[in-house]
Amino acid sequence: MIGYGTGVQWVLVLLLSSLVVGRQITDDLIRLPSDHSSILDRVFHGSDKFNDDSVGTRWAVLIAGSNGYWNYRHQADVCHAYQILKKGGLKDENIIVFIYDDIAYNEENPRPGFIINSPDGDDVYAGVPKDYTGEDVNVNNFLAVILGNKTALTGGSGKVVDSGPNDHIFIYYTDHGGPGVLGMPTLPYLYADDLIDTLKKKHASGTYKSLVFYLEACESGSMFEGLLPEGLNIYATTAANAYESSWGTYCPGEEPSPPPEYDTCLGDLYSVAWMEDSEVHNLQTESLKYQYELVKARAGGPDAYYGSHVMQYGDVKLNKEMLYLYMGTNPANDNFTVGSDHNSLRPMPSKAVNQRDADLLHFWHKVRKAPEGSPRKEEAQKQFLEAMSHRVHLDNSIKLIGKLLFGIEKGPEVLQSIRPAGQPLVDDWKCLKTLVRTFETHCGSLSQYGMKHMRSIANICNAGITGEQMADASAQACPTIPSGRWSSLRGGFSA
Ligand SMILES: *[C@@H]1O[C@H](CO)[C@@H](O)[C@H](O)[C@H]1NC(C)=O
Ligand SMILES: *[C@@H]1O[C@H](CO)[C@@H](O)[C@H](O)[C@H]1NC(C)=O
Repeated sequence: MIGYGTGVQWVLVLLLSSLVVGRQITDDLIRLPSDHSSILDRVFHGSDKFNDDSVGTRWAVLIAGSNGYWNYRHQADVCHAYQILKKGGLKDENIIVFIYDDIAYNEENPRPGFIINSPDGDDVYAGVPKDYTGEDVNVNNFLAVILGNKTALTGGSGKVVDSGPNDHIFIYYTDHGGPGVLGMPTLPYLYADDLIDTLKKKHASGTYKSLVFYLEACESGSMFEGLLPEGLNIYATTAANAYESSWGTYCPGEEPSPPPEYDTCLGDLYSVAWMEDSEVHNLQTESLKYQYELVKARAGGPDAYYGSHVMQYGDVKLNKEMLYLYMGTNPANDNFTVGSDHNSLRPMPSKAVNQRDADLLHFWHKVRKAPEGSPRKEEAQKQFLEAMSHRVHLDNSIKLIGKLLFGIEKGPEVLQSIRPAGQPLVDDWKCLKTLVRTFETHCGSLSQYGMKHMRSIANICNAGITGEQMADASAQACPTIPSGRWSSLRGGFSA
């Protein structure tokens, strides 16, 4: 961290040395006193920050991978991130937003047309570009946008990351996930191998200087663990390691809790931690590393009984860079340098809600608040019970498949085993995708909750089980194929 005092000294040393060098080489290089202030300005106030070729253009891709009012928080996170980048000076033409866009005017939203990301927060929805909404929020479009490949797009605004070799790219993804996979409102899900392939292709095309990826999801570390190599000039941080949940925050019943009319979580712990830090600081003075440490402390300190381990992957040395390179900086925060007294983040909240339970919490609050005997109460009870019973069905089916394949004792052990750090979830991603489809054919959609079972299915692949063996075991475990909204034959596969 360069504080004000040391920063000034450093600049003075630089100026003095340039004067000395200038005298030795040519008088043209001697700087006039009036030049000094412009350099100081540039360091502290970024007066010509968006014309500086060394920075190139800043690009951002922001994506919420969920829909549904019970997932309010993911789209709220993305809208909030847009506001920060916009205030930081990025142009709309360089910020590409993916939101399903079913929240602001959802019939459950107590403030129609507004979205908030913290209990006392302002609206974050106004002005958000709707580049990809509804069904256009999908894996194909997300990867095509990163690659800048317009011909591969379906629908949407057509905006892509049309970047050049000096440019900096920031990607922020928030949603449910599972081992090796990230959710999407429209199936299929995004698998880690496809994401990594895309990042490698982007690197090979020579169209960025460096890229920062912030990722919030359960087991988000598994998207990069053993997969993201060094040397791509990519620095990633994730809300969780490869085998734990990430957490929603500002949930009903928590302190601080949302205004009473909200039955849903307003944000996610890792996400609001980086955003509430970025929006109050002069980002020319804050490094990625500094923010990583702050976010790590807020999303789950070592003594917390909940929370997650924020991780770093890829070219970790890039974390010396200033956030400003990726997010710009809001001129109103010029005097709020990190290391001054103004960087007090909210402390870690006393409670948080596991991503995977946030939908249950929403349905439960709906049940509780609806008037006795009302259709709303009945509907909420039905939603709650359906979600619970599908969970139990998925858990039991996977357990049974493990026992059928590996025996009663070894089954659970094989399914639950976790590979050592540095190893990817699975060696054969094609196998994982095939077996996911096999499972879903017989036992129904894994759905948001069932993504947690990806590790079990990956372990089945790692144990060398064939597609045929998996089909037999799935058929035995699930003699009746689920119908209705849990059917994959109707609703599509997650792989
Ligand atoms: C862009 O996408 C199209 C359609 O998927 C593909 O055929 C083409 O090779 C891609 N172009 C590049 C430059 O990757
Ligand atoms: C920063 O502080 C200086 C000196 O007190 C003041 O003149 C300037 O207006 C402040 N800048 C902002 C953006 O508040």
